[in-house]
Amino acid sequence: MGSENDNPQWDSTLAFLMAMIGSAIGLGNIWRYPYVVYSNGGGAFLIPYITSILIMALPFLYLEYAVGFEFKTSVPNIYKKVKKPLEVVGWFICFVSFLILTYYVVIIGWDIIYLVLSITKGWGANTNTFFTTTLLHSTTSTSGLSHIIWPVLGSLIVIWSIIWYISRQNLNDGIGRFSKILIPLLVAIMAIVVIYSITLPGASIGINALFNPKWDALFNLNIWLAAAGQILFSLSLGWGVVSTYSSYLPKNSNLIKNGAIVATANCSFELLAAIGVFSILGFMSMTQNVPINNVVTEGTGLIFVAFPTVFNTMGSIAYIIGPLFFLCVFFAGITTTISLLEPISFAITRKFEIRREIVVTILCAIGFLASIVFATGMGSYLVKIVDNFLNNFGVLFGIVLECLIFGWLYNTEKLLNIINKNAKIKLGTWWIYLIKYLIPLMLIGIWVNGIYGLILTNNLTTLIIQLIIAILMVIFPTIFTIRPKREKKLEIE
Ligand code: PHE
Repeated sequence: MGSENDNPQWDSTLAFLMAMIGSAIGLGNIWRYPYVVYSNGGGAFLIPYITSILIMALPFLYLEYAVGFEFKTSVPNIYKKVKKPLEVVGWFICFVSFLILTYYVVIIGWDIIYLVLSITKGWGANTNTFFTTTLLHSTTSTSGLSHIIWPVLGSLIVIWSIIWYISRQNLNDGIGRFSKILIPLLVAIMAIVVIYSITLPGASIGINALFNPKWDALFNLNIWLAAAGQILFSLSLGWGVVSTYSSYLPKNSNLIKNGAIVATANCSFELLAAIGVFSILGFMSMTQNVPINNVVTEGTGLIFVAFPTVFNTMGSIAYIIGPLFFLCVFFAGITTTISLLEPISFAITRKFEIRREIVVTILCAIGFLASIVFATGMGSYLVKIVDNFLNNFGVLFGIVLECLIFGWLYNTEKLLNIINKNAKIKLGTWWIYLIKYLIPLMLIGIWVNGIYGLILTNNLTTLIIQLIIAILMVIFPTIFTIRPKREKKLEIE
């Protein structure tokens, strides 16, 4: 029997939507977005942000939907069907997602440690020293590699076990069921945290700072690029996740409606998170009597330094709000990690006819071993370098190729018909122009801008690490491409 016939399928639209929203809502929404808005013009940022959603992210989301929905197979197979040698592009995309997964789990690992610590405010008074030195023994020197940070390694075991437990089961019992439980829980807990935050004294200082528009920012190209980059990341576009998840959709699905729901849910969550985060920062600015721009940080600094500092000043309610906040990051992270494993695990299952359970087990074991390097004294430094390189170079390279391949080597009109097939509100032919001209131009702009930033790095260690990853990004996809496909054995055996 042709393997195309036993493609897994979502048992309900709800499972698909929850899995998609689960992938979209992640660290990008909680720790990246608030800072990106603040540092790129505040309220004025919402104009490039909403424009990017409408003219780039949503049209691109629909492209990925259509491709997965039409071909109903793994990402490398999709590219192979467009043109045989392009299979390698599909493996490249899957491989980059897997690499990203190996350090994304580490950040969630730190979060688990803070979840436990928040029960007793175990980070002490000096939260910065605690995070970088006491906990992570952070160093930029390679000697740090021989120093294992045991609490991080322990939480990596927990996270990889959870990913393994969820992903090895069939689609609906695993990803579908857990997304249906975790996403509503996440939204409910986040709502509690945000509602509490906006009642804090000083919250309005933070919210004003966040949304106070700096209109001249609109004339700065970098801000438009930042908006486009943020929304691509936030909606999980270009990593093979969307096409893989939509390849599991039943034939009668309404792509337009589903895409609009996912984008609205993700962006509302993002805005909600930003309001919550800035209310808390406003409170911090007021209680510590420091100007708001001194307390605003991004990423790790925000979650693991600024927030614990706020919880220290909050009194006993922090014993509830603290754990709830870290639990949010944990739930958001887990549903994203399982989506990052899916493109590569589905692709290997398809090509080599190996059972999902076995593929997931092997990938989790390899992923765990690879992520140990980030659980060393050099770990947090490596996370920064690898994240920067993969996001600015790897992912965008894949997106640019994807857009050019489907815009120019494939029949875009056919894709448009697929998108519109079961929909009441339909996309017009303007979608084709966006996919062929405007979006590739914007993507190339973001990509070149990112590479420019990378080249400016003159630090030797960083360059060597980037080179190693670049080599891996060529070797592995090539090996997977040239290995012959294994034919399925007859059932009689
Ligand atoms: N959307 C995720 C986030 O906001 C990141 C991600 C990108 C996940 C691409 C999967 C694929 O954190």
